[in-house]
This record gives sequence, C-alpha cells and structure tokens, in this order.
Amino acid sequence: MKIPLEHYHKIIFFTGAGMSAESGVPTYRGRGGIWNEYKWEEYACQNAFNKNPEFVLNFHQLRRVEALKCNPHLGHTIISNIENLKKNTFIITQNIDGMHQRANSKNVIELHGSLWRLRCEKEGIVIEDKMDGKFSKTICECGEWLRPDIIWFEDMLKEDIILQANQKIIESDLFISIGTSGMVWPAASFPSLAKSSGSFCIEINPEETELSKLYDQVIRLPASDALDQFFN
Ligand code: APR
Repeated sequence: MKIPLEHYHKIIFFTGAGMSAESGVPTYRGRGGIWNEYKWEEYACQNAFNKNPEFVLNFHQLRRVEALKCNPHLGHTIISNIENLKKNTFIITQNIDGMHQRANSKNVIELHGSLWRLRCEKEGIVIEDKMDGKFSKTICECGEWLRPDIIWFEDMLKEDIILQANQKIIESDLFISIGTSGMVWPAASFPSLAKSSGSFCIEINPEETELSKLYDQVIRLPASDALDQFFN
C-alpha cells in the first residue's frame, strides 16, 4: 500500500547504517557489523587518535576506500526524487559515507559528520576533502594532526546540528526512520519527539528494534524494497 505523500508537507527521512547496507557499506552492529570486527576503543575515539593518529587515520582511509566501492541504490534515488517534488523534505542521517549526497540529495543533515571532511582541533577549522580513498592531507598548516570530522564514541554531537535536526522533526508531519537500530543517542529520542509533535511515524527495518513499538506503521523490508513499494 502506497503512502499517500500528497497528505504530507514536511517529511523527514531519518537514516542509519541499514540504509547504506544494500549499497554494500557494512552496518555497525549485527551480522558483519564493523564493531564486531574492530574495537571502537582502538579505532573510533579521540583517545585512540591521541595515542596513534596514523593508525586511526588509516582505519578511516579504509572506510573511505570501502565507501567508494559502493554506489547509492534505488532507495537513495527515491528519497532524492521525493526531495525534488516536496521542498520541505529533509534527510537526517547518522551515516558518514555521503551516499545521500551522491544520489543528489541536498537537504542532508549529517548527525555524525562525514568521512569526506577533516578538521583541525587547534585552529577550529573544517576542511572539505575530495572523494578519494586517501586523505588529501593529514597535517594542518599549524602542524597539528587533522582528524576526520566525524562523531566518534565519547564525542559530543555538534549542538547546532542537533538543534537543526530537532527543529525539523518538530515541524514534520511524516517521519520515516530507515535502517537504524536506534541504540545511539540522539537517534533513540527522535521517533518519540516526532510522535509527540504529531508526525505520522514509520519504521523501515527488516528487524524489530528497541523503538519499534513507538511507530504508527512498521515496514519489515529492506530499505530499497520498502521505498519502492510504499514511496515510488
Ligand atoms: N534495510 C533496512 N534496514 C536494514 C537493512 C536494510 N537492507 N540491513 C540492516 N538493517 C538494519 C538492521 O536491522 C539494524 O537495525 O539497520 C540497522 C543498523 O543498525 P546499526 O548497525 O546499529 O547502525 P546505526 O543505527 O546507523 O548506528 C548508529 O552507531 O556506531 C555508531 O556512529 C555509528 O552512526 C552509527 C551509530
């Protein structure tokens, strides 16, 4: 049954690793999950970076190489088409792979930053890097190591980004969560915020999640099938 998009004017697609899974990007948890293979304490926190920046940067270069082997799928294209038709459509993503942008989505709020940016903590500058496996540079002009501009474990999320995401969710009348386990804050708080703001909430995920009970409608299909059957 198609979702009657003509009834909705402010739409949020909230995506997690399951959205990129069908492109071939591994998820974080569950079968084949990155955190089953790699200890985040060694690869994805400021502490690890402080101890061995090169080692952590190499791990992120590998993530870039893997992401570049993958392409956006039909689901990404359907979302980008909806964004073109309905101007008040926003994508809030936990993904750092840039896949929505590669499918021509423009209104993308990246909660966890991007693999394609670096930043200098000392100078407080963010550098857009080209989509290439290798970082174009790893040392800032000031001599400091550049770190990936992503939210690692134990990092604070950027306040302006959370505020922007919260605002868009409060204003929304349709909230569609796709491929997130909902175990990481603030993902865990978004469906209830959407619901209490009067938005119709849909979960797309082949598996039940901790948050499934909160949704008005649950679609137990992979992202691309669900988007094709219900939104295309
Ligand atoms: N379609 C839709 N959902 C899928 C698919 C698919 N084809 N394949 C897997 N999933 C679902 C899984 O059932 C699971 O619920 O995607 C979800 C992925 O969950 P996680 O791996 O926990 O990813 P995510 O929720 O995005 O993780 C949040 O945690 O480690 C941090 O910063 C990292 O952004 C990440 C955050």
